[in-house]
Amino acid sequence: MIDYYNNVERMDRIFLIGYMGSGKTTVGKLLAEKLGYSFVDMDTHIEEKYFKSVTEIFSKLGEQEFRKLEKDCLHEVAEFENIVISTGGGAPCFFNNIEFMNEHGITVYLKLTPEQLSKRLEHSYENKRPLLSNRKGEELTQFISEGLAKRETFYAKATISVYSENEDVVTQILNFIKHV
Ligand code: S3P
Repeated sequence: MIDYYNNVERMDRIFLIGYMGSGKTTVGKLLAEKLGYSFVDMDTHIEEKYFKSVTEIFSKLGEQEFRKLEKDCLHEVAEFENIVISTGGGAPCFFNNIEFMNEHGITVYLKLTPEQLSKRLEHSYENKRPLLSNRKGEELTQFISEGLAKRETFYAKATISVYSENEDVVTQILNFIKHV
């Protein structure tokens, strides 16, 4: 009985996690639409709250400060119900954020290989990925490969993992979460 209620509450919040370029925002919007939930992108939330782009926050305040703002925003959005939250790629890897997300909802890891991520990020000109600092080609793939290896430990704590290149990724997530 208690577990049933816990799951119902956890279902109210779905956190999408994964490396930059794994499709969290695109998949998150579609998933929210299917569930009739609201959608929030954490980076956008941070940018709107502080009137600064993620890149500006990194360059003016530093990554450590960005991680603190990110954690604060995570705690804020976790107050909302019936919501799909797309998190920044590093969010689960700092403080106890992944444990916090797992306590407050269901976490979905969108998985891709370094090569697939590299292909997607090659042309990423967004003003919110300062960590990539214009790396291209082999150098980019190598950077992703090393970064992903370090982050896998955190991503692996997700409630469910789905391969993000699948066409029916949203359907897969919906099927999975029904059984969580
Ligand atoms: C970051 C990912 C970015 C953004 C910031 C740091 C990371 O979000 O939060 O540039 O550490 O992986 P996306 O994963 O949405 O690109």
